[in-house]
Formats: sequence, structure tokens, C-alpha cells
Amino acid sequence: MRSKLVAGNWKMHGSRAAISDLLAALKAELPSEPRVDIAVFPSAVYLADTRSLLSGSPVAIGAQNVCEKPGEGAYTGEVSAQMLADIGCRYVIVGHSERRAMYGESSELVASKVKCVLDAGLLPILCVGESEADRDAGRTLEVVAEQIQAVFDLLPVSELASLIVAYEPVWAIGTGKTATPAQAQEVHAFIRGLVAERSTELAAGIRILYGGSVKAANAAELFSQADIDGGLVGGASLNAQEFSAICRAAE
Ligand code: 13P
Repeated sequence: MRSKLVAGNWKMHGSRAAISDLLAALKAELPSEPRVDIAVFPSAVYLADTRSLLSGSPVAIGAQNVCEKPGEGAYTGEVSAQMLADIGCRYVIVGHSERRAMYGESSELVASKVKCVLDAGLLPILCVGESEADRDAGRTLEVVAEQIQAVFDLLPVSELASLIVAYEPVWAIGTGKTATPAQAQEVHAFIRGLVAERSTELAAGIRILYGGSVKAANAAELFSQADIDGGLVGGASLNAQEFSAICRAAE
């Protein structure tokens, strides 16, 4: 049985004071022993603070991005997967559509990041998803397949046991336009099928999250779909009541 995961991607939001307030409210709202996995993804500069503020809480932390180079080196401004592991991260988001679109990350580069994250013993959350133009042109499944194929090209199935995939249709991110549960389920089932072509065991265990305008009001219906194993939540994760309600919906 796959355990559900609710991940809050704070993107480039927050300050020390705001994060302290948000986490205090979240700790008050969440059950002390939630029946789902929960994680928050602050900006890298606040990871250590967030970790301290969450000490004793079941909420894990993750990073929003990572360097594609293994080990250490002269890569000014970058943060390695080992560094993220060292400060207590459990997850790393890779290939978010904002990074693919605004920072030119190719599927090959994203696959290198997945490898670094796995090599550091962390759980990568690989984001995939089509633009509105792709969907209108009937290319949704093709785009998603290409994004996932790059990871299969670089890594053998035997190394992908901790991979998590997040399906985030670009047109649903920050727009209030959620994919319908049926639209999301179709793509999630397709992704699980792609994995099953390589390994039925991996396909049965891999968690596939939905992201794109998830909120308390739509979470339960999305999470009840057969192949939706939780959510990658943006805007609503900055509100303790909303985020905790989404976590409860996943339970
Ligand atoms: P929203 O929930 O704000 O649409 O953002 C989704 C997202 O990009 C999470 O990574």
C-alpha cells in the first residue's frame, strides 16, 4: 500500500518571522501522529531554521532545487545534494516547471539532478507536466512521457525505488484552474503505466502526486483517485489552516 504524501512548496516566499509564524500555526493544526507523510519545502536559506522549528514534529523538510553536479566543487551559488542531506532534508523537488521554463532546465539536466538526489540518499520529487498549448494540441501524454524517459535513459530501474513523481499541469499552477480529478487520474494512470513497462513492482510502489491549485476544497476528491498518492501544494501551503486541511483530506 502506498502511503500518501502532502508536500508544501513554499517557492520564493517567506522570511524568518513569517516562517516561524506559519510553522507554529501548522504544528497547532496538525495531529501529532498524522497518517500521511507531510513535508515542507522552504527556500534553501531557511532550511536550517525550518528544521529547528520543526524539531519533534513529524513534518519533514525538503529543498526546491539542487545542483546537478555530484560531490563538491567550484560551482558558485549552487547547493549540492550531499549538503541538503547533511542539514536534514528528506526530499528534493527537481524539474519544477518554473525551473524548466524560467531557468532553461532540460529533461536531461533534470535527470542528472534526480541521480544526485538518489546518490545522496534523498527522495527526489520529479515534476512533470504539460503547458496549456501542449494540452490544446493533444500532446499531454507525449510531453509527460518525454520528461520521464530522460530519467529512464540515465538510471536503471533498480535505482529508482525512492523516486516520487509529481504531475503538475503548467496551466493549473497558481491559476486557480485545477485539473479535474478525471483529467489528473488519466495522466497519473498513464505515468504508472510507463513505469510498469519497466517494472511492475516499481509501478505498484511509486508515489505520484498531483500539483496545480490544490486546495482544501478540492483535495479530497483528487486524492480519492486510484493513482493519485497525494499532492504538491503551492499557494495553499502558505496558509496553515488550508495546508492542514489538505493533509487531513489525504488521510
Ligand atoms: P499552486 O498550488 O500555487 O498552484 O502551485 C503548485 C505548484 O507549483 C507546486 O509545486
